[in-house]
Formats: sequence, C-alpha cells, structure tokens
Amino acid sequence: MRPAQPRLDPLRLLMHAAALLPLLLLLLAALTGGLSVNPIQDATQRMGQAAILLLMASLACTPVFILTGWRTVNAFRRPLGLYAAFYAAAHFILFAGVDYGFSLELLAREVAEKRYIIVGLAALLILLVLAVTSFRWWKARLGKRWKGLHRLTYLAALLAIFHYGWVAKGDFLAFSGSVLQPWIYGGIVLLLLLVRLPPIRRVLRRKNKSKETKVV
Ligand code: HEM
Repeated sequence: MRPAQPRLDPLRLLMHAAALLPLLLLLLAALTGGLSVNPIQDATQRMGQAAILLLMASLACTPVFILTGWRTVNAFRRPLGLYAAFYAAAHFILFAGVDYGFSLELLAREVAEKRYIIVGLAALLILLVLAVTSFRWWKARLGKRWKGLHRLTYLAALLAIFHYGWVAKGDFLAFSGSVLQPWIYGGIVLLLLLVRLPPIRRVLRRKNKSKETKVV
C-alpha cells in the first residue's frame, strides 16, 4: 500500500506553522531588539535548538506509527526532516558566514580549538545528503539502498546531540554541569531507536497488526 499522500489539511498546516515558529520568533526578536547582548550567538543557538528538536520530531514519526497505528503521521517525517536540515544549515551559515565571514583561516583556527565543530559538521553533512536524496527520483534510483541511507538519520541525531553535549558548559560524558538537556535528548533518541528494533517492533506490531503497513 502507498504511504499517506501529503495534503494541506489542518494538521499539516499546524505542523508547518510549528516548524516555522523558531524562524518567526528569531525574526521577531531580531526586529524588536529581543536578542541577547551577543545576537549572532543567540541566533546560532536558536537555530541549533530548532534543528535538533525538528530532527527528533521527524525521527518520532515512525515509532508513533508503530505504537499507535496512526498512519497520517508518516507523511510528517519528510517535511520535518527537511526543516531540520534547513535549520541546521542556517545554524552553520550564522556561525561560519555571519560570525566568521566564511574566512577559511579563522574557521580552521576555530575547528582546531573547538573539536565539537567537526562532530556538528558530520551531522550537517548527513542531514544535507538525506535532504537531497529525500526526493522521489532518488528513492527510485537508489532502490533498496535508499532505506539504508536514510537510517543514517539516527546517526545524524546522535552526532548532533553529542555536538550539543560537547558545547554545553560542563562535562557531557561525566554528567557534570549544564548537560541535562543533551542527555534527555539522547535518551529520547535511544528510546525512539529501540521501538524500531525488529524484536521490539514485532511485539508492538502484533498489537497493531490490523493497522500497520510497511514503513521505512
Ligand atoms: C558545520 C556544522 C555545525 C557547526 C559549525 C556548528 C557550530 C556550533 C557552535 C559554534 C555552537 C556554539 C554556539 C555558542 O553557544 O556559542 C553550536 C551549538 C549548538 N549546535 Fe551546532 N554546529 C553545527 C552543526 C549542528 C547541527 C547539524 C545541529 C543539529 C542538528 C547542531 C545543533 C546545535 C545545538 C543544539 C547547539 C547548542 C545550542 C544552545 O546552546 O542552546 N549543530 N553549534
């Protein structure tokens, strides 16, 4: 059976409105002087948060479907993933372009000093590849490999969370300082991943047998 087709129903409009909210709030804050004393850092952080939250929302679609059998949610996975890639790109442009004027010399110095940037770059590259290959033409061209490629979303999310944990003040791995939020995000992503593991999925599937069709 074909997956649910995208339509502009009220729920889809709500999803788009929610996904665009961080951008609108940023523009509003920029226009009304509502950004912090370091506006570029503030904007970079806002876009980073939006990227990670939308990535998690996209990853939640399939588990929600597995748990509830609510098919419509599958249609939200791709747009939410595209929004995540958009915000991640905006986050990168604000940092590398607006803050450092795309100066390779300055950026190289920053990367040498702040290694978490490399982890963020890896996550961004995966998100961009997934965004480009999310179109039907690529799906048909890549065949079975498409599914495997798009499972990299989980890797992108885990890298992004590690990047966030590394940026946060404190020691992410030693669980000291302001690292609670990235740990919570990590826990949520691991739970979402768990629901998709074949043995667990099979148990849940039996409960929803009448509702579930095959999804990525
Ligand atoms: C080349 C790619 C990336 C670069 C250069 C980059 C750079 C940065 C920098 C410099 C910060 C610290 C901002 C500050 O507090 O001064 C940061 C924070 C952050 N980044 Fe990235 N990042 C990249 C990719 C990503 C991606 C792909 C995501 C999410 C999908 C992400 C999510 C975050 C989050 C959540 C924060 C913490 C924001 C906060 O403090 O609330 N980043 N990033």
